Amino acid sequence: MDTVLLSGRSNPVLGGKLAAALGLKEGRCLIKDFADGEIKVEVKQEVAGCHVFILQSTASPTGQNLLELLLLADAARRRGARTITLVIPYFGYARQDRRVSGEEPVGARLMTDLLGTRCDRIVAIDLHNEAVEGFASVPLLHLSAVPLLAEAYRRYRSNDNVLVAPDSGAVKLVQRYAALLKLPVATIEKIRKSDIDVAVQAVTGEVKDKAVVLVDDMISTGGTMVAAIKALHEAGARKEISIITSHCLMAGQASARLEQQPIQRVITSDSVIPQKTGSLPIEISSLADGIADALQGLLRL
Ligand code: R5P
Repeated sequence: MDTVLLSGRSNPVLGGKLAAALGLKEGRCLIKDFADGEIKVEVKQEVAGCHVFILQSTASPTGQNLLELLLLADAARRRGARTITLVIPYFGYARQDRRVSGEEPVGARLMTDLLGTRCDRIVAIDLHNEAVEGFASVPLLHLSAVPLLAEAYRRYRSNDNVLVAPDSGAVKLVQRYAALLKLPVATIEKIRKSDIDVAVQAVTGEVKDKAVVLVDDMISTGGTMVAAIKALHEAGARKEISIITSHCLMAGQASARLEQQPIQRVITSDSVIPQKTGSLPIEISSLADGIADALQGLLRL
């Protein structure tokens, strides 16, 4: 049975690497914007009877990338694809996983509902909340960048490191790094004041005179990291900071805010193309081989 990889426009570099890792040429598609803002998609590749993988991160421009993904999947289905697997390295709206005031939608559920209408399976990486898997009406394979990024950090590891979760949501994640890197853990209690502003209420754990490694699933506006770094320094941590994060979105003023911090390195994956990195020392490890292994595993099912 033939296999075809199609890529949307969100992450062409990862698309090329994934095709190489799968031993495939990327499937031919035409994707462009109409003058009125709609997206035109044509799947030029023969996909009838094929297992089709479609790669697209639903990062900014989120709405456009989502719709482009759905259009690609619809076109592939109408051309007779046997199965369609959506490979979504960064799954946008995963943070909208519950209602807080009762006035919001559950955006993560809406995403899985929409995507589930046009595919047989979803593959995602380090979802903000694993509960998203439970929302999905199609099987969702949840991969993780943790082993890849822990290995990328290993050459910097030292015994005076402490891994820090910058909020309660990152505690499980930091524990996974701690198990791989054999390092102690500290945690921060954070409250979010707005989408760009957060405040730290407490630091728990031994950070004094330690070289901190902050661990989070994503950097969006950088507000969480900036507040965490300030609180850690007030608690006596050393000035040098490392960050490990699966998804380096770098939205809005993130790079300008983080450039002012004593950050030695940001270890991340190529799940998204950061919006703006400025002079930040960002070290990117590719997810391509790990995703390719997982997709080959699915083909054997
Ligand atoms: C929130 O719970 C997430 O895990 C991240 O901490 C957060 O989304 C990062 O966003 P920002 O960089 O805008 O603070």
